[in-house]
Amino acid sequence: MAPQGDPILEVRDLVKHFPLTQGIVMKRQIGAIKAVDGVSFDLRRGETLGVVGESGCGKSTLAKLLMALEKPTSGSVKVNGELVDVHRGSNLKRFRRNIQMVMQDPYTSLNPRMTVGDIIGEPYEIHTEVAPKGDRRKKVQDLLEVVGLNPDHINRYPHQFSGGQRQRIGIARGLALQPEIIICDEPVSALDVSIQAQVINLLERLQSEFGLAYIFIAHDLSVVRHISDRVAVMYLGKIVEIGKDTEIYDKPSHPYTQALLSAVPVPNPEGRETRERIILQGDPPSPANPPSGCRFRTRCWKAQEICAVEEPLLQIRPGTDHESACHFAEVHDVVHAS
Ligand SMILES: Nc1ncnc2c1ncn2[C@@H]1O[C@H](COP(=O)(O)OP(=O)(O)O)[C@@H](O)[C@H]1O
Ligand code: SF4
Ligand SMILES: [Mg+2]
Repeated sequence: MAPQGDPILEVRDLVKHFPLTQGIVMKRQIGAIKAVDGVSFDLRRGETLGVVGESGCGKSTLAKLLMALEKPTSGSVKVNGELVDVHRGSNLKRFRRNIQMVMQDPYTSLNPRMTVGDIIGEPYEIHTEVAPKGDRRKKVQDLLEVVGLNPDHINRYPHQFSGGQRQRIGIARGLALQPEIIICDEPVSALDVSIQAQVINLLERLQSEFGLAYIFIAHDLSVVRHISDRVAVMYLGKIVEIGKDTEIYDKPSHPYTQALLSAVPVPNPEGRETRERIILQGDPPSPANPPSGCRFRTRCWKAQEICAVEEPLLQIRPGTDHESACHFAEVHDVVHAS
């Protein structure tokens, strides 16, 4: 289904700074880890936004902010036009029903002492209005079937399932409250490559069946390519480039995106690799002390004086058709179209 209509999720200038403290008895704040530092985007009904960036760039913190599991330092999240207020219980409960999460690690995210039926049905304990007690078993069995598991296995325990099957259990649980939005935080990163495609195909099927909108987080551009309508690339707590999938993959304009893309192997029909390789120097700087101006400048081969002084805004620049946060943004086809 093509994404359409008003945004279902509106994120504006979202910031999460974790205080850095010193001292054990007399704690003093000596700084802050700028995990998420001014992130804005919209998500439409039925749309998938891929969010990509190296480990530590703030992807999971962003996910927790969207789920209202973390309180933002500043900024706002609206769902269906309504501001999410972590201080208003009724508002939060309704909101929590509508936005669910699928976690990264299917081995640790499921309680080993609970049966699959209890795990998937647990959200009904809080949201009793969705499934009265007598209906729950049937609802859970339906969910097992929807995600491609055997409904007769409702009384089994997580250890009796494979990694891919466990992730299906996590997805079934995410679907239990019939949400409109699912945040998938690296849902396939812990799975074998052969299983990854099956789980992604399942998520795509569920999306068209139930009109779900996804935020799909990954550390690698190759994983989100297939499923994303749009992609946001994050670096040190900020979005550095965002656009439609074709804009990001075929016409990347930010040096960081170009470097990430150059790490994705893409053979052409003759089996030859057609990508250009850009090797990034060093690791990302600490989010407690990000570089002045452009945060990517310490690793950027195009950096000029202005990059240390002036922060590049995320905007469409001449010669490009989507937003990029680089003073010298220019389209560069890293993966030469074959
Ligand atoms: N609860 C927390 N307290 C302090 N720092 C945190 C906390 N959660 C995450 N961080 C820090 O915030 C940064 C972003 O982390 P995270 O959102 O987990 O990144 P990602 O998911 O992209 O790997 C990291 O430097 C991490 O150490
Ligand atoms: S603004 Fe400067 S340092 Fe930042 S990505 Fe662009 S060229 Fe590189
Ligand atoms: Mg993470």
